[in-house]
Amino acid sequence: MEKTFFIIKPDGVRRSLVGLVLERAERRGFSIEKLQMCEVTRDMLDQHYADLVDKPFYHEIVSYMLSGPVVIGVMTGGDVIHSWRKMMGATNPSDALPGTIRGDFAHASDDGSVENIVHGSDCAASAQREIALWFD
Ligand code: TYD
Repeated sequence: MEKTFFIIKPDGVRRSLVGLVLERAERRGFSIEKLQMCEVTRDMLDQHYADLVDKPFYHEIVSYMLSGPVVIGVMTGGDVIHSWRKMMGATNPSDALPGTIRGDFAHASDDGSVENIVHGSDCAASAQREIALWFD
């Protein structure tokens, strides 16, 4: 069965959206295979977002992702990588459609920084890499 890696980011934990996010996944028919609350370290974040460390907005990602505990997990199911991305909605909450997690529970910030509640791997190679990084 296909697996994806997900994070409920600090804003999701802070706003008590953990149960809701997991419920959406389970109601869709996906199984939570691994689940853990943790504090992200700078080193883990740099590895996780290796493609973004050189971007001008990376310092915003760092302060956001280190602002509180997160919940990390692995979920499984048919076409779960693509389906979970659809359920999350667009990266920028102002583009995220109603019905998606970001479209229903996040909004654009005034300063342009992005707080968007959830992460999901973007392809099979990323899922494999991220599961190994966070759980091995
Ligand atoms: P990315 O992996 O491109 O998006 P997604 O989370 O939808 O897979 O980007 C990772 C995070 O980086 C994203 O959730 C929010 C942040 N980000 C910004 O703050 N500004 C940006 O312009 C982009 C592309 C991402």
